[in-house]
Amino acid sequence: VSAQPARKVAPARGPLRGSARVPGDKSIAHRAVLLNAVARGTARVRGLPDGADVRSSISAVRMLGCSVDDDGDALRIFGRAGHFEAPRANIDCGNSGTTMRLLAGLLAGGGIEAVLDGDVSLRRRPMARVAKPLREMGAHVETTGEGRAPIRIHPAELRGTRIDLEIASAQVKSAVLLAGLAAAGETAVREPLPSRDHTERMLASMGIAVRRVGTTVSLDGPTLARCVDVDVCGDASSAAFFAVAAALVAGSDVSIREVCLNPTRIGFVAVLKRMGADVEVQIEGQRAGEPIGTLRARGSRLRATDITPEEIPGTIDELPVLAVAAALAEGTTIVRGAAELRFKESDRIATVTAMIAALGGRARATDDGMEIEGNAHLRGGARVATAGDHRLVMAAAVAALACREPVEIDQPESAAVSFPAFFPTLETLLP
Ligand code: S3P
Repeated sequence: VSAQPARKVAPARGPLRGSARVPGDKSIAHRAVLLNAVARGTARVRGLPDGADVRSSISAVRMLGCSVDDDGDALRIFGRAGHFEAPRANIDCGNSGTTMRLLAGLLAGGGIEAVLDGDVSLRRRPMARVAKPLREMGAHVETTGEGRAPIRIHPAELRGTRIDLEIASAQVKSAVLLAGLAAAGETAVREPLPSRDHTERMLASMGIAVRRVGTTVSLDGPTLARCVDVDVCGDASSAAFFAVAAALVAGSDVSIREVCLNPTRIGFVAVLKRMGADVEVQIEGQRAGEPIGTLRARGSRLRATDITPEEIPGTIDELPVLAVAAALAEGTTIVRGAAELRFKESDRIATVTAMIAALGGRARATDDGMEIEGNAHLRGGARVATAGDHRLVMAAAVAALACREPVEIDQPESAAVSFPAFFPTLETLLP
Protein backbone atom coordinates (compact mmCIF):
# COMPACT_ATOMS: atom_id res chain seq x y z
CA VAL A 1 0.00 0.00 0.00
CA SER A 2 1.47 3.33 -0.96
CA ALA A 3 0.45 6.91 -1.47
CA GLN A 4 3.02 7.35 -4.22
CA PRO A 5 1.55 7.77 -7.70
CA ALA A 6 2.63 5.17 -10.23
CA ARG A 7 5.05 6.29 -12.93
CA LYS A 8 4.46 5.62 -16.59
CA VAL A 9 7.48 4.68 -18.69
CA ALA A 10 7.01 4.66 -22.47
CA PRO A 11 8.80 2.42 -24.96
CA ALA A 12 12.05 3.97 -26.20
CA ARG A 13 11.39 5.94 -29.40
CA GLY A 14 14.93 5.34 -30.56
CA PRO A 15 18.43 4.49 -29.36
CA LEU A 16 19.86 5.61 -26.00
CA ARG A 17 22.94 7.73 -26.43
CA GLY A 18 25.39 9.73 -24.43
CA SER A 19 27.25 9.44 -21.20
CA ALA A 20 26.03 9.48 -17.65
CA ARG A 21 27.29 9.48 -14.11
CA VAL A 22 25.80 7.35 -11.39
CA PRO A 23 25.73 7.98 -7.62
CA GLY A 24 28.63 6.95 -5.44
CA ASP A 25 28.86 3.24 -4.69
CA LYS A 26 26.49 2.35 -1.90
CA SER A 27 28.57 -0.50 -0.49
CA ILE A 28 31.74 1.59 -0.36
CA ALA A 29 29.85 4.56 1.08
CA HIS A 30 28.41 2.56 3.99
CA ARG A 31 31.87 1.31 4.80
CA ALA A 32 33.43 4.77 4.53
CA VAL A 33 30.96 6.00 7.14
CA LEU A 34 30.90 3.02 9.49
CA LEU A 35 34.61 2.16 9.43
CA ASN A 36 35.77 5.76 9.83
CA ALA A 37 33.30 6.19 12.71
CA VAL A 38 35.05 3.51 14.76
CA ALA A 39 38.59 4.44 13.70
CA ARG A 40 41.13 6.90 15.13
CA GLY A 41 41.46 10.38 13.58
CA THR A 42 39.26 12.27 11.15
CA ALA A 43 38.30 11.54 7.58
CA ARG A 44 36.92 13.42 4.60
CA VAL A 45 34.56 11.38 2.48
CA ARG A 46 33.63 12.70 -0.96
CA GLY A 47 31.20 11.43 -3.54
CA LEU A 48 28.74 9.88 -1.11
CA PRO A 49 25.46 8.93 -2.75
CA ASP A 50 22.44 10.84 -1.45
CA GLY A 51 20.27 7.73 -1.28
CA ALA A 52 18.27 6.87 1.81
CA ASP A 53 20.37 3.81 2.68
CA VAL A 54 23.61 5.70 3.22
CA ARG A 55 21.74 8.34 5.18
CA SER A 56 20.70 5.53 7.53
CA SER A 57 24.37 4.76 8.20
CA ILE A 58 25.19 8.42 8.80
CA SER A 59 22.35 8.92 11.27
CA ALA A 60 23.28 5.66 13.00
CA VAL A 61 26.87 6.72 13.72
CA ARG A 62 25.63 10.12 14.89
CA MET A 63 23.43 8.35 17.42
CA LEU A 64 26.56 6.58 18.62
CA GLY A 65 28.24 9.88 19.44
CA CYS A 66 30.16 10.29 16.20
CA SER A 67 30.38 13.85 14.85
CA VAL A 68 29.69 14.07 11.16
CA ASP A 69 29.52 17.38 9.35
CA ASP A 70 29.22 18.44 5.78
CA ASP A 71 31.64 21.12 4.64
CA GLY A 72 29.93 21.44 1.27
CA ASP A 73 32.54 19.42 -0.57
CA ALA A 74 32.93 16.43 1.69
CA LEU A 75 31.55 14.79 4.78
CA ARG A 76 33.91 15.09 7.72
CA ILE A 77 33.82 12.16 10.12
CA PHE A 78 35.43 12.38 13.54
CA GLY A 79 36.39 8.84 14.49
CA ARG A 80 35.47 7.52 17.93
CA ALA A 81 38.70 5.51 18.30
CA GLY A 82 36.82 2.40 19.32
CA HIS A 83 34.54 4.07 21.88
CA PHE A 84 30.94 4.67 20.95
CA GLU A 85 28.36 6.34 23.20
CA ALA A 86 25.31 4.31 24.13
CA PRO A 87 22.45 5.50 21.88
CA ARG A 88 19.46 7.05 23.63
CA ALA A 89 16.93 5.38 21.35
CA ASN A 90 16.71 2.48 18.96
CA ILE A 91 18.89 2.94 15.89
CA ASP A 92 16.69 3.02 12.80
CA CYS A 93 18.50 1.37 9.89
CA GLY A 94 15.58 2.14 7.55
CA ASN A 95 15.63 -0.14 4.49
CA SER A 96 19.35 -0.84 4.75
CA GLY A 97 20.53 -4.38 5.43
CA THR A 98 24.15 -3.28 5.09
CA THR A 99 23.73 -0.68 7.85
CA MET A 100 22.14 -3.20 10.18
CA ARG A 101 24.47 -6.12 9.61
CA LEU A 102 27.73 -4.17 9.58
CA LEU A 103 26.70 -2.20 12.66
CA ALA A 104 25.83 -5.41 14.48
CA GLY A 105 29.42 -6.51 13.96
CA LEU A 106 30.88 -3.15 14.85
CA LEU A 107 28.88 -2.92 18.08
CA ALA A 108 29.20 -6.56 19.17
CA GLY A 109 32.41 -5.80 21.08
CA GLY A 110 31.68 -2.09 21.55
CA GLY A 111 30.94 -2.29 25.28
CA ILE A 112 27.56 -0.55 24.97
CA GLU A 113 23.92 -1.53 24.79
CA ALA A 114 22.15 -0.77 21.52
CA VAL A 115 19.06 -1.82 19.58
CA LEU A 116 19.05 -1.93 15.77
CA ASP A 117 15.71 -1.73 14.01
CA GLY A 118 14.42 -1.01 10.51
CA ASP A 119 11.43 -0.67 8.18
CA VAL A 120 8.91 -3.40 7.35
CA SER A 121 11.14 -4.86 4.63
CA LEU A 122 14.24 -4.93 6.84
CA ARG A 123 12.29 -6.48 9.73
CA ARG A 124 11.44 -9.37 7.43
CA ARG A 125 15.05 -10.13 6.48
CA PRO A 126 17.16 -12.83 8.17
CA MET A 127 19.46 -11.61 10.93
CA ALA A 128 20.32 -14.97 12.52
CA ARG A 129 23.03 -15.26 9.85
CA VAL A 130 24.86 -12.41 11.57
CA ALA A 131 23.79 -13.10 15.18
CA LYS A 132 25.05 -16.68 15.06
CA PRO A 133 28.69 -16.06 14.13
CA LEU A 134 28.86 -13.06 16.45
CA ARG A 135 27.67 -15.28 19.31
CA GLU A 136 30.40 -17.76 18.44
CA MET A 137 32.83 -14.90 19.04
CA GLY A 138 31.32 -14.31 22.50
CA ALA A 139 28.87 -11.55 21.58
CA HIS A 140 25.62 -11.12 23.44
CA VAL A 141 23.15 -10.51 20.62
CA GLU A 142 19.40 -11.02 20.65
CA THR A 143 17.00 -11.17 17.70
CA THR A 144 13.28 -12.00 17.56
CA GLY A 145 12.34 -15.67 17.83
CA GLU A 146 12.37 -15.85 14.02
CA GLY A 147 15.89 -14.46 13.91
CA ARG A 148 14.80 -11.04 12.68
CA ALA A 149 15.25 -7.40 13.73
CA PRO A 150 15.06 -5.65 16.11
CA ILE A 151 18.54 -6.79 17.18
CA ARG A 152 19.56 -6.02 20.74
CA ILE A 153 23.27 -5.92 21.49
CA HIS A 154 24.64 -6.11 25.04
CA PRO A 155 28.23 -5.44 26.10
CA ALA A 156 30.48 -8.51 25.79
CA GLU A 157 34.15 -9.48 25.51
CA LEU A 158 34.91 -10.99 22.12
CA ARG A 159 37.53 -13.60 21.22
CA GLY A 160 38.99 -14.15 17.79
CA THR A 161 37.29 -17.14 16.20
CA ARG A 162 37.31 -19.13 12.95
CA ILE A 163 33.94 -18.68 11.31
CA ASP A 164 32.73 -20.86 8.44
CA LEU A 165 29.89 -19.19 6.56
CA GLU A 166 27.26 -21.35 4.87
CA ILE A 167 26.37 -18.63 2.42
CA ALA A 168 28.49 -16.14 0.53
CA SER A 169 27.53 -12.80 2.07
CA ALA A 170 29.66 -9.69 2.15
CA GLN A 171 27.46 -8.25 4.86
CA VAL A 172 27.95 -11.20 7.17
CA LYS A 173 31.66 -11.50 6.34
CA SER A 174 32.05 -7.79 7.08
CA ALA A 175 30.15 -8.04 10.37
CA VAL A 176 32.54 -10.76 11.52
CA LEU A 177 35.64 -8.82 10.44
CA LEU A 178 34.42 -5.64 12.15
CA ALA A 179 33.70 -7.58 15.33
CA GLY A 180 37.21 -9.00 14.92
CA LEU A 181 38.69 -5.52 15.36
CA ALA A 182 37.53 -5.65 18.98
CA ALA A 183 38.20 -9.36 19.57
CA ALA A 184 41.28 -10.80 21.24
CA GLY A 185 43.31 -12.91 18.82
CA GLU A 186 42.79 -13.96 15.23
CA THR A 187 39.39 -13.71 13.58
CA ALA A 188 39.11 -15.68 10.37
CA VAL A 189 36.07 -15.94 8.15
CA ARG A 190 35.68 -18.35 5.27
CA GLU A 191 32.93 -18.13 2.69
CA PRO A 192 31.85 -20.75 0.18
CA LEU A 193 32.36 -18.33 -2.74
CA PRO A 194 34.03 -14.93 -2.78
CA SER A 195 31.67 -12.01 -2.14
CA ARG A 196 32.46 -8.32 -2.63
CA ASP A 197 35.66 -7.34 -0.85
CA HIS A 198 35.23 -3.62 -0.11
CA THR A 199 35.59 -4.11 3.65
CA GLU A 200 38.91 -5.89 3.23
CA ARG A 201 40.21 -3.21 0.87
CA MET A 202 39.16 -0.35 3.11
CA LEU A 203 40.49 -1.93 6.30
CA ALA A 204 43.82 -2.48 4.55
CA SER A 205 43.90 1.21 3.57
CA MET A 206 43.28 2.03 7.23
CA GLY A 207 46.42 0.23 8.34
CA ILE A 208 44.90 -3.10 9.33
CA ALA A 209 46.82 -6.19 8.24
CA VAL A 210 44.07 -8.12 6.47
CA ARG A 211 45.15 -11.52 5.15
CA ARG A 212 43.44 -13.47 2.42
CA VAL A 213 44.08 -17.14 1.64
CA GLY A 214 41.62 -18.65 -0.83
CA THR A 215 38.20 -17.55 0.40
CA THR A 216 39.37 -17.08 4.00
CA VAL A 217 39.98 -13.55 5.27
CA SER A 218 41.58 -12.92 8.65
CA LEU A 219 42.88 -10.19 10.93
CA ASP A 220 44.28 -9.89 14.44
CA GLY A 221 42.65 -7.96 17.26
CA PRO A 222 42.13 -6.01 19.28
CA THR A 223 43.25 -3.24 17.00
CA LEU A 224 42.31 0.26 15.97
CA ALA A 225 42.00 1.36 12.37
CA ARG A 226 43.23 4.76 11.20
CA CYS A 227 40.69 7.11 9.60
CA VAL A 228 41.09 7.34 5.85
CA ASP A 229 39.83 9.85 3.30
CA VAL A 230 37.61 8.20 0.73
CA ASP A 231 36.60 9.46 -2.69
CA VAL A 232 33.68 7.18 -3.51
CA CYS A 233 33.52 6.01 -7.13
CA GLY A 234 30.30 5.40 -9.06
CA ASP A 235 28.08 2.44 -8.23
CA ALA A 236 28.42 -0.38 -10.75
CA SER A 237 25.06 -1.75 -9.59
CA SER A 238 23.39 1.53 -10.64
CA ALA A 239 25.38 1.63 -13.88
CA ALA A 240 24.13 -1.88 -14.72
CA PHE A 241 20.60 -0.54 -15.38
CA PHE A 242 21.86 1.76 -18.12
CA ALA A 243 24.16 -0.92 -19.53
CA VAL A 244 21.24 -3.30 -19.94
CA ALA A 245 18.98 -0.54 -21.29
CA ALA A 246 21.59 0.27 -23.95
CA ALA A 247 22.15 -3.40 -24.74
CA LEU A 248 18.40 -3.89 -25.32
CA VAL A 249 17.66 -0.95 -27.58
CA ALA A 250 19.08 -1.25 -31.10
CA GLY A 251 21.54 1.46 -32.08
CA SER A 252 22.22 2.58 -28.49
CA ASP A 253 25.67 3.66 -27.31
CA VAL A 254 25.98 4.65 -23.67
CA SER A 255 29.03 5.26 -21.50
CA ILE A 256 28.98 5.47 -17.73
CA ARG A 257 32.04 7.18 -16.34
CA GLU A 258 33.91 6.95 -13.05
CA VAL A 259 32.38 3.64 -12.11
CA CYS A 260 33.88 1.29 -9.54
CA LEU A 261 35.15 -1.68 -11.54
CA ASN A 262 36.01 -3.93 -8.60
CA PRO A 263 36.02 -7.47 -10.08
CA THR A 264 33.78 -8.77 -7.27
CA ARG A 265 31.08 -6.36 -8.48
CA ILE A 266 31.04 -6.58 -12.26
CA GLY A 267 29.99 -10.17 -12.84
CA PHE A 268 27.09 -8.76 -14.85
CA VAL A 269 29.52 -7.64 -17.56
CA ALA A 270 30.66 -11.22 -18.19
CA VAL A 271 27.05 -12.43 -18.24
CA LEU A 272 25.98 -9.72 -20.69
CA LYS A 273 28.95 -10.47 -22.95
CA ARG A 274 28.00 -14.13 -23.01
CA MET A 275 24.53 -13.06 -24.04
CA GLY A 276 26.11 -11.37 -27.03
CA ALA A 277 25.95 -7.84 -25.65
CA ASP A 278 28.46 -5.29 -26.78
CA VAL A 279 29.75 -4.18 -23.37
CA GLU A 280 33.25 -3.07 -22.42
CA VAL A 281 34.97 -1.87 -19.31
CA GLN A 282 38.03 0.33 -19.35
CA ILE A 283 39.95 0.67 -16.10
CA GLU A 284 41.40 4.19 -15.89
CA GLY A 285 42.88 4.30 -12.41
CA GLN A 286 42.47 3.56 -8.74
CA ARG A 287 40.39 5.43 -6.20
CA ALA A 288 40.28 4.57 -2.50
CA GLY A 289 41.87 1.20 -3.22
CA GLU A 290 39.28 0.37 -5.87
CA PRO A 291 39.70 0.19 -9.67
CA ILE A 292 37.72 2.89 -11.45
CA GLY A 293 36.88 3.49 -15.10
CA THR A 294 34.27 3.60 -17.84
CA LEU A 295 31.54 1.11 -18.71
CA ARG A 296 30.28 1.30 -22.29
CA ALA A 297 27.33 -0.60 -23.74
CA ARG A 298 25.87 -0.68 -27.22
CA GLY A 299 22.67 -2.22 -28.54
CA SER A 300 22.84 -5.74 -29.89
CA ARG A 301 20.69 -8.81 -30.27
CA LEU A 302 20.86 -10.89 -27.08
CA ARG A 303 20.75 -14.64 -26.61
CA ALA A 304 19.99 -16.68 -23.50
CA THR A 305 22.62 -17.96 -21.11
CA ASP A 306 22.92 -19.97 -17.90
CA ILE A 307 23.87 -17.99 -14.82
CA THR A 308 25.67 -20.47 -12.58
CA PRO A 309 25.80 -20.70 -8.77
CA GLU A 310 29.46 -19.59 -8.86
CA GLU A 311 28.41 -16.37 -10.58
CA ILE A 312 25.72 -15.40 -8.07
CA PRO A 313 27.74 -13.48 -5.45
CA GLY A 314 29.27 -11.34 -8.19
CA THR A 315 25.92 -10.55 -9.82
CA ILE A 316 23.55 -10.66 -6.86
CA ASP A 317 22.17 -7.11 -7.04
CA GLU A 318 22.14 -7.08 -10.85
CA LEU A 319 20.02 -10.23 -11.25
CA PRO A 320 16.73 -8.29 -11.51
CA VAL A 321 17.98 -6.30 -14.49
CA LEU A 322 19.80 -9.30 -15.97
CA ALA A 323 16.45 -11.11 -15.82
CA VAL A 324 14.98 -8.29 -17.90
CA ALA A 325 17.78 -8.80 -20.45
CA ALA A 326 16.96 -12.53 -20.44
CA ALA A 327 13.26 -11.81 -21.03
CA LEU A 328 14.26 -10.06 -24.26
CA ALA A 329 16.93 -12.54 -25.37
CA GLU A 330 16.59 -15.47 -27.74
CA GLY A 331 16.18 -18.75 -25.86
CA THR A 332 15.73 -19.76 -22.24
CA THR A 333 17.96 -18.38 -19.52
CA ILE A 334 18.38 -20.39 -16.34
CA VAL A 335 19.56 -18.83 -13.08
CA ARG A 336 20.68 -21.32 -10.43
CA GLY A 337 22.08 -21.10 -6.90
CA ALA A 338 20.39 -17.76 -6.27
CA ALA A 339 18.14 -18.58 -3.30
CA GLU A 340 19.68 -15.51 -1.60
CA LEU A 341 17.49 -13.39 -3.86
CA ARG A 342 14.57 -14.30 -1.63
CA PHE A 343 16.14 -12.38 1.25
CA LYS A 344 16.76 -9.03 -0.41
CA GLU A 345 14.65 -5.87 -0.16
CA SER A 346 11.86 -8.03 -1.58
CA ASP A 347 11.71 -11.73 -2.43
CA ARG A 348 13.34 -11.02 -5.77
CA ILE A 349 12.67 -14.49 -7.20
CA ALA A 350 8.97 -13.84 -6.73
CA THR A 351 8.91 -10.14 -7.62
CA VAL A 352 11.15 -10.40 -10.69
CA THR A 353 9.31 -13.37 -12.23
CA ALA A 354 5.96 -11.66 -11.51
CA MET A 355 7.20 -8.46 -13.16
CA ILE A 356 8.23 -10.30 -16.32
CA ALA A 357 4.92 -12.16 -16.42
CA ALA A 358 2.99 -8.90 -15.95
CA LEU A 359 4.78 -7.49 -19.00
CA GLY A 360 3.74 -10.48 -21.09
CA GLY A 361 6.98 -12.47 -20.82
CA ARG A 362 7.50 -15.99 -19.55
CA ALA A 363 9.39 -16.47 -16.31
CA ARG A 364 9.15 -19.26 -13.78
CA ALA A 365 10.39 -19.16 -10.20
CA THR A 366 12.40 -22.19 -9.11
CA ASP A 367 13.60 -23.08 -5.61
CA ASP A 368 16.94 -21.42 -6.12
CA GLY A 369 16.50 -19.15 -9.10
CA MET A 370 14.43 -18.68 -12.21
CA GLU A 371 13.89 -19.81 -15.78
CA ILE A 372 13.17 -17.08 -18.27
CA GLU A 373 12.00 -17.72 -21.79
CA GLY A 374 13.04 -14.78 -23.91
CA ASN A 375 11.08 -12.93 -26.60
CA ALA A 376 12.08 -10.32 -29.15
CA HIS A 377 9.52 -7.98 -27.58
CA LEU A 378 7.48 -7.70 -24.44
CA ARG A 379 3.88 -6.58 -24.58
CA GLY A 380 3.95 -4.18 -21.65
CA GLY A 381 0.76 -2.18 -21.23
CA ALA A 382 0.51 -3.30 -17.63
CA ARG A 383 1.21 -2.16 -14.11
CA VAL A 384 4.22 -3.62 -12.30
CA ALA A 385 4.11 -4.20 -8.55
CA THR A 386 7.57 -3.43 -7.18
CA ALA A 387 7.00 -4.16 -3.48
CA GLY A 388 8.83 -0.90 -2.79
CA ASP A 389 12.08 -2.52 -3.92
CA HIS A 390 14.41 0.03 -5.54
CA ARG A 391 16.02 -2.43 -7.91
CA LEU A 392 12.63 -3.70 -9.08
CA VAL A 393 11.59 -0.15 -9.92
CA MET A 394 14.70 0.46 -12.01
CA ALA A 395 14.60 -2.98 -13.67
CA ALA A 396 10.95 -2.41 -14.63
CA ALA A 397 11.83 0.97 -16.15
CA VAL A 398 14.52 -0.69 -18.27
CA ALA A 399 12.06 -3.37 -19.37
CA ALA A 400 9.51 -0.70 -20.30
CA LEU A 401 11.93 0.79 -22.84
CA ALA A 402 11.76 -2.47 -24.79
CA CYS A 403 7.99 -3.02 -24.47
CA ARG A 404 5.33 -2.34 -27.12
CA GLU A 405 3.03 -0.45 -24.74
CA PRO A 406 3.86 1.88 -21.86
CA VAL A 407 4.35 0.37 -18.43
CA GLU A 408 3.11 1.71 -15.12
CA ILE A 409 5.49 1.22 -12.22
CA ASP A 410 4.16 1.40 -8.72
CA GLN A 411 6.10 2.95 -5.81
CA PRO A 412 8.62 4.56 -8.19
CA GLU A 413 10.10 6.76 -5.46
CA SER A 414 11.68 3.64 -3.95
CA ALA A 415 14.46 4.15 -6.50
CA ALA A 416 15.71 6.82 -4.08
CA VAL A 417 17.00 4.11 -1.75
CA SER A 418 20.07 3.86 -3.98
CA PHE A 419 19.55 6.23 -6.95
CA PRO A 420 17.34 9.29 -6.35
CA ALA A 421 18.09 10.75 -9.81
CA PHE A 422 17.51 7.51 -11.71
CA PHE A 423 14.57 8.70 -13.83
CA PRO A 424 16.01 12.12 -14.76
CA THR A 425 19.35 10.47 -15.60
CA LEU A 426 17.62 7.89 -17.79
CA GLU A 427 15.81 10.72 -19.59
CA THR A 428 19.12 12.37 -20.53
CA LEU A 429 20.03 9.21 -22.45
CA LEU A 430 16.71 8.85 -24.27
CA PRO A 431 16.10 10.44 -27.69
C1 S3P B 1 26.20 -5.72 0.23
C2 S3P B 1 26.27 -7.06 0.06
C3 S3P B 1 25.25 -7.84 -0.67
C4 S3P B 1 24.34 -6.98 -1.52
C5 S3P B 1 23.92 -5.74 -0.81
C6 S3P B 1 25.10 -4.91 -0.34
C7 S3P B 1 27.28 -5.05 0.97
O1 S3P B 1 24.52 -8.55 0.28
O2 S3P B 1 23.21 -7.70 -1.95
O3 S3P B 1 23.13 -4.95 -1.67
O4 S3P B 1 27.41 -3.82 0.87
O5 S3P B 1 28.01 -5.75 1.68
P1 S3P B 1 25.05 -9.97 0.80
O6 S3P B 1 26.50 -10.06 0.48
O7 S3P B 1 24.84 -10.03 2.24
O8 S3P B 1 24.30 -10.96 0.00
